[in-house]
Amino acid sequence: MTRIACIGGDGIGPEVIGAAVLVMTAAADKHGHAVTLDRWDLSANRYLRDGVTITDEERDRLVGEYDAALLGALGDPRVPDNVHARDILLGLRFHADLYINFRPCRLLVPALSPLRDPDPGTDIVFFRENTEGLYAGLGGSFKTGTTDEVATEQSLNTYKGVERIVRAAFEHAAATGRRRVTLVDKANVLSHEGALWRRVFAEIGARFPGIVQDTMYVDAMAMDLVRRPQRYEVVVTSNLFGDILSDLGAQVTGGLGLAPSGNINPGSWALFEPVHGSAPDIAGRGVADPLAAVGCVSLAFAHLGMGDAAKDVDDVIIASIRDGFTTPDLGGTASTREVGQWMADRLLA
Ligand code: NAD
Ligand code: IPM
Ligand code: MN
Repeated sequence: MTRIACIGGDGIGPEVIGAAVLVMTAAADKHGHAVTLDRWDLSANRYLRDGVTITDEERDRLVGEYDAALLGALGDPRVPDNVHARDILLGLRFHADLYINFRPCRLLVPALSPLRDPDPGTDIVFFRENTEGLYAGLGGSFKTGTTDEVATEQSLNTYKGVERIVRAAFEHAAATGRRRVTLVDKANVLSHEGALWRRVFAEIGARFPGIVQDTMYVDAMAMDLVRRPQRYEVVVTSNLFGDILSDLGAQVTGGLGLAPSGNINPGSWALFEPVHGSAPDIAGRGVADPLAAVGCVSLAFAHLGMGDAAKDVDDVIIASIRDGFTTPDLGGTASTREVGQWMADRLLA
């Protein structure tokens, strides 16, 4: 029995996870996979009600009793310091050492790209380091609230942390027949971390002589992802740069409504979540695109060794776009739930 914890979270999170659960249940039934989906209330509502973000015991149970988790989004204007999102999402990433943030951006249907003449072969996978960098929480503030206030954030980079994400990127490229791995950094200014990343990239890259290896500064990369995204195949980068570039990669391949991601510790535990956030501007209206969350279902199935179900879910995503049965962001008129139900029905038809 495979057990998945479903954490809707905030804003559009519960709406898109509701649709994803319909699709996951249908695909598992179709292929005879025994999958149990349990709902977990970890959210701003729960925090505002009980004063609790996530307890240590809940974190241990999620990681110990479940094979993986599916999370919608966390972030609520009523919690301006975002403490619950950091405790829950970053807490799980750090606690379970989910060091790979796997963010594929594939142009499924060329018309979805806002670019003129998009290359239909555009297919980028971001390997975002997920436990270090500027997300490590190193820093502090001093004389807070005065005109002498000082605030610092330090970027933490360890050899172990850099080596394992760079290795994961190369291994993925080799396993999937991708021919280029690009390191994105800001080594011209951030020279200490830059030197470490570049040395490790060269060291690991030497084991993969058949793969083209290049480096890009993050500012030039932002430009190039718009100019010629088709050039990039596997991109490996630090936590913050990966956060930013994966939204950009999502947009050039169809928008945030479509982009899934996996937070993965290979062989251990994984949490799948859309790249997008809780979208307070559209929450509660039933118009959120569930395809990113449904894409997470496919990533979860693939991760759990249920490739047949993953393939079916990928196919039904493309079918919904081709048939125009989509939410308004992709030009359709269907609601979040209707798209989920349509996909579930189609899987079982
Ligand atoms: P966002 O991704 O929530 O929204 C950006 C824009 O994209 C908005 O216009 C929104 O309406 C649109 N959008 C996002 N997802 C969509 C979908 N599925 N369908 C249609 N349109 C969609 O980013 P934001 O507004 O910067 O952040 C809102 C909150 O979400 C913040 O609190 C932020 O911290 C949080 N956040 C959480 C996660 C996460 O939990 N993984 C990720 C990003 C942001
Ligand atoms: C993401 C989000 C998170 C991040 C936030 C909500 C903590 O933007 O998953 O991309 O910055 O990693
Ligand atoms: Mn982000």
